[in-house]
Formats: sequence, structure tokens, C-alpha cells
Amino acid sequence: MTFQKFELENWQSDYEQTVRFNLADSTVDPVTVADLIEGGKDVERIMSVPLYYPEVNGERGLRGLIAGLYDGIGSDDVLVTVGASEANAAIVDALCEPGDRVVVMEPGYRQVWGLALNRGCDVAAFELDAERGWAPDLEQLRRVATPGTRIIYVCNPNNPTGYILTEEEMAEIVRIAEDCGAWIVADEVYRGSERLTERETPSFVGMTDRVIGVGSLSKSYGLSGLRIGWAVCTHPELADLWRRHEYVAIATGRLDNHLAECALRASTRERLFDRNRTCVRRGYELFSSWMQRQDGRLTALAPMASALAFVRYDSDLPSVEVGDLFRRKASVLVAPGVFFGREGWFRINIGMDTGYLSQALDALSPVVAELPNALQR
Ligand SMILES: Cc1ncc(COP(=O)(O)O)c(C=O)c1O
Repeated sequence: MTFQKFELENWQSDYEQTVRFNLADSTVDPVTVADLIEGGKDVERIMSVPLYYPEVNGERGLRGLIAGLYDGIGSDDVLVTVGASEANAAIVDALCEPGDRVVVMEPGYRQVWGLALNRGCDVAAFELDAERGWAPDLEQLRRVATPGTRIIYVCNPNNPTGYILTEEEMAEIVRIAEDCGAWIVADEVYRGSERLTERETPSFVGMTDRVIGVGSLSKSYGLSGLRIGWAVCTHPELADLWRRHEYVAIATGRLDNHLAECALRASTRERLFDRNRTCVRRGYELFSSWMQRQDGRLTALAPMASALAFVRYDSDLPSVEVGDLFRRKASVLVAPGVFFGREGWFRINIGMDTGYLSQALDALSPVVAELPNALQR
């Protein structure tokens, strides 16, 4: 079996240090330690953390705070992982056997897609439809979620489109999962980055029995450098993830656990979400006024959440070639759409410092203008 590499992450590791402007990732302007901690008490606590291994499944205090983000979850139902990445990897390894059907959203973050292929699973997709504002094709989901399907992986809010499922759509996904006996793996790392509302996107956790919620401090909290994520689940299968965690990481960082506790304190969490939504909203305004100056060569639907814009370009060039052009000619790194399962699109980050974003977009404009000449549709 050939190894399916993680194309998006590989693209970023190869090039993100070589460009002037990196718009290929999916976080907002990072929070500093000074931004995170609040006052002398925090400083004292952080300075006195013994740098020994933390509890293998995550420090109890942190697990308690994570549990508090969900209905019906206790601190023993939480496994703290090295980002949501480790949680997703442990889930696929623990739940899937070769030949199992795994269904993913497309376009989507293709970690579970690639992990499932590497596990020898039979991977199918259901589409988010650009013609309907990125609403999911749930009839297609019903068709591909055949009896015995092991996992339905949903990313809500979605990466790369920023689409937020309606409560009716969530309920229908739950019905489909229950009918075919699948686990819902709910990757909810963009909850808290809503652009149009202050209301946090609801979780799938608690909506049905067989659900694993995946979260992270990387995106809506602006703390990707902490490398703290989690899986929550009320079933014994959580221990199967924990057994994988012991092999892969033993534990997350103890200092990271303590800083994560600061981030999840109610007042700090609210402050970080406000900051995140400000970055997302400011970035979107800048991005949409730049789009209006591109003479219709690019189109995009407004993201409901996340610091991401998924952009359609007017050329038949493959998205990796478009990404290469942007990188070589403008020194701007974007993420090619094919890495999310959609040719003809690219994803950019709009959540960084607005000065940086506006310089990067200005650098892109002349290369965008050349695109239709490269190959007409
Ligand atoms: C949907 C989704 N899940 C998981 C991850 C992994 O994030 P981390 O490991 O930083 O928590 C990402 C990162 O881009 C993502 O977009």
C-alpha cells in the first residue's frame, strides 16, 4: 500500500519558511505568553511549575476545564493530546480496521481522509455545495454512509469554507450516523471563531451516544504553539485513544497544560474569543475589499467562521501550479484547493495582522491578473 502523505501539511513544512508572506495556515495572529497570563498570581504559578511529566492523559485541572465546555462530560472523559492532530490520529488508529468505511466532508481538512486511507479504509466523501452557500449534500451522505460505516468525520465550523452547519443539518447527520451505526468524529477546532455572531457553534457532543468531540487551542484561541488539543468521549473507547497516546507522545507538555488552564479560565477564554473574532472580522473586511479590486477573476463565499477564505480562480491551471506561481512570483504561500479535495480553488488565511495581510494581498494582485492568460477556461 502506498503511503498517503498529508499534502497540506507537507506543502506548509516545505515552503512556509521560504516565503515573505505565509497565508497558508489557519490560525489568527498568535497570542503571546504575556497576552495570556493575567497578573502576578499567574506568573507565580507558571514560574513554579515543576518541569516533570504531567498526568499522561492531561493535568486534572485542565481536563476539568475542558469537560466544562461540553454537556455531560466529566474530567475522566477527556484525553489531552498534542493538538487536535494527535486526537484525530489516535481516533482513526483506535476505531478503524482495514476495509472499514470512513466518510468525510469535502472540501475538508484531509487529515482523517489521509489517515483512513493509510489504515486501508474505504474512504468516501459527502460534498459541501458552493452553489448552495456550502450547505452539505445530506442525501449524498445518506447514500455513502452504508450500513456498518465506522466513522462520519465532520469539521464544524468547516475548514476550508468556514461553513457552519445548521441545527437541522446537525440533527440529520446524527440520524444518518445512528442509522448506519457510525461514530461521529466531530472536529470542532474552529468553534469560537464565528464571524457573524457571538454565539459559539454548538457541539455534536451530547447529541448522540457514539460521538467523539475533538478540540484544540490552536485556532480560536490563537495558541497553536502550545500544541494542546483534546478528545472527549463518554465511552470506554477513550482508553483506546489513551493507549495510542502512550506510544506516540507519552504526554503533552506540563508547562503547556498550565498555560492551557489559563486560556480556558472563563474570563480569559471570552477575551481570547473576542480577540479572535476581531481578527476574523477585520481580516474579512480587508480581504473582501481586495477581492472587489480583482475584476471578477476571483470569487469567494463569505466564511461564517474561521480566519479562512476559500477562493475560486478563473483559470484551468491546477491549484498546486497556482500556489507555485503565487509563491515564486509574489513570495506569498497559499494552500492549494486540491489539498482539500477541490480543484480550481485556493485557501488563504485572513486572520493575521492587517498590515501583513494587506501587503501580502497587494503582492498577489499582479499575479492574479496574469492567471487567465496562463490557460483560459
Ligand atoms: C480541522 C482541523 N483539525 C485539526 C487541525 C490540527 O490542529 P492542531 O493539531 O494544531 O490542534 C487543524 C489544523 O489546521 C484543522 O484545521
